[in-house]
Amino acid sequence: MSEERLRRVRDRVRPFPDFPEPGVLFRDISPLLKDPVAFRTLIDLLEDHVRASFPKIDFIAGLDSRGFLIGPPLAQRLGIGFVPVRKKGKLPGPTESISYSLEYGKAELEIQSDAVEPGQKVVIVDDLLATGGTMCAACELLKRLKAEILECLVIIELKALKGSEKLNSIPFYSLLQYD
Ligand code: PRP
Ligand code: ADE
Repeated sequence: MSEERLRRVRDRVRPFPDFPEPGVLFRDISPLLKDPVAFRTLIDLLEDHVRASFPKIDFIAGLDSRGFLIGPPLAQRLGIGFVPVRKKGKLPGPTESISYSLEYGKAELEIQSDAVEPGQKVVIVDDLLATGGTMCAACELLKRLKAEILECLVIIELKALKGSEKLNSIPFYSLLQYD
């Protein structure tokens, strides 16, 4: 049953060689967003996983920008709020910020300093884990706010880049894995 649902999601991820730079095999989720049945299936799978894993969560935190496509519908299903972790310069008020590297470049992420209270339980979501640079940076921001990170959750894991090893002891879960 779950295999069939996973296949429906996997069939809507499209590979593009050499994007955005030579040597990168880009995994594009646009077809998944375009297909309402596949997208609903995706959110169903994520909801089932989170409900089965965690009895209490305060927030879903999502990463700019593709984490914003998945985080809010998942948070709605769970009946909880969503916290954006944004690229630098987009969030008003006091923020925490951090620089990081990803598979194809460097960037800076920010979170509002009052986004989460100390001890609140958070699941961090994104579309994809490659080197893990982005997810690690988001974890550091949430740790600075003293959140309890329950899990880092992605649709797609690029196994060969070993991003999950960078997360050390933080629990990690991916729906789909690619070598
Ligand atoms: C992509 C992807 C992840 C990150 C993964 O985001 O959505 O956030 O790269 O790479 P890493 O594991 O090597 O850090 P990108 O910065 O391209 O931004 P976008 O979501 O706005 O396209
Ligand atoms: N972000 C980092 N690496 C990526 C890849 N190979 N495909 C899609 N998004 C990415």
